[in-house]
Amino acid sequence: MSTDTTPLLAIRDLRLDFVNGDRPLRALDGVSLTVHAGETVCLVGESGSGKSVTALSITRLLPSPPARVVGGSILLQGRDVLQMAPRELRSVRGGIVSYVFQDPSASLNPVIRIGKQILETLELHRPDAANDAEVVQLLKLVGIPAPESRARDYAHQLSGGMQQRVMIAMALASRPKLLVADEPTTALDVTIQAQILDLLRDLKQRTGMAILLITHNLGLVSEIADRVAVMYAGQIVEEAPARELLARPLHPYTRALMDSVPELGRDVTRLKAIAGNVPQLGAWPTGCRFHPRCPKAIAACAQHNPELSLVEPAGSSRLVRCPYWNS
Ligand SMILES: Nc1ncnc2c1ncn2[C@@H]1O[C@H](COP(=O)(O)OP(=O)(O)OP(=O)(O)O)[C@@H](O)[C@H]1O
Ligand code: SF4
Ligand SMILES: [Mg+2]
Repeated sequence: MSTDTTPLLAIRDLRLDFVNGDRPLRALDGVSLTVHAGETVCLVGESGSGKSVTALSITRLLPSPPARVVGGSILLQGRDVLQMAPRELRSVRGGIVSYVFQDPSASLNPVIRIGKQILETLELHRPDAANDAEVVQLLKLVGIPAPESRARDYAHQLSGGMQQRVMIAMALASRPKLLVADEPTTALDVTIQAQILDLLRDLKQRTGMAILLITHNLGLVSEIADRVAVMYAGQIVEEAPARELLARPLHPYTRALMDSVPELGRDVTRLKAIAGNVPQLGAWPTGCRFHPRCPKAIAACAQHNPELSLVEPAGSSRLVRCPYWNS
């Protein structure tokens, strides 16, 4: 049962394998992540670190097999998603938790008018509100001009940015408590990216929903996040309030990630790519997974994989998976 202090989402020590043949490959290795009601949390990290797998796990959207949860829990409003019966799971998906993905054109049905697609979502989750007026209201909410006539359009008649607004309208139709946006702006050009981000920020304020925003771009984080979790090779390596993390990243990986992000007005020639590659599943290094790429690595780093620990830099408390963050 949930109370006011129960987090909206509490992922605890989630371990997940992909089973190909008889060899399980660990993809999430003890991921813990909390999102409170109304909060915006950003999950960042390079490609292949496990961001999408984490996001899809929240409502068990990964096909099983190959995915297999081998430990941990995922509490949504205090109820464990991993224990839910199929019926409850269906009402949670798109009900309490809605998703927006990177490529809206792949998610929209090309042969059904967009208004009808939104109506179908309403019929599923809010049948009392399944009418044309609510469809228009939702299109208006996401800033689509002339919503009455746009509702009769097909997806291909809309620009990429407008298609993503429609996807967000569909995601909002059920009045979710948590919107999971997985790289929602990556497929769009820069001006439109900024508009979609503004829209998400505005919607969060107006609807009070929480947002889990997944991105490999730390530059977006300052625009929208309350809190940030940084992921590397299937683990969270740092978590902190956004302002603190951006002002003072503590984990060497977060620092490297920030050095590789172009910022407005910053000298682009000083940007550094992070040396080496994200290790593949099944080939994670022993010890600290970042040690082959870490500029601060010492011999001991290859021996022990550090815990995500509470550390206390001046006046705050932060979670960092590196015992040498202060050296
Ligand atoms: N269905 C699957 N079967 C096997 N391996 C998978 C499957 N889905 C994801 N993986 C692997 O799990 C790891 C984490 O993938 P994930 O998609 O979560 O990365 P990501 O952090 O979202 O990266 P990106 O920024 O590229 O989206 C990757 O190595 C990926 O290849
Ligand atoms: S434990 Fe060692 S290798 Fe890992 S991040 Fe810290 S200093 Fe770098
Ligand atoms: Mg992804």
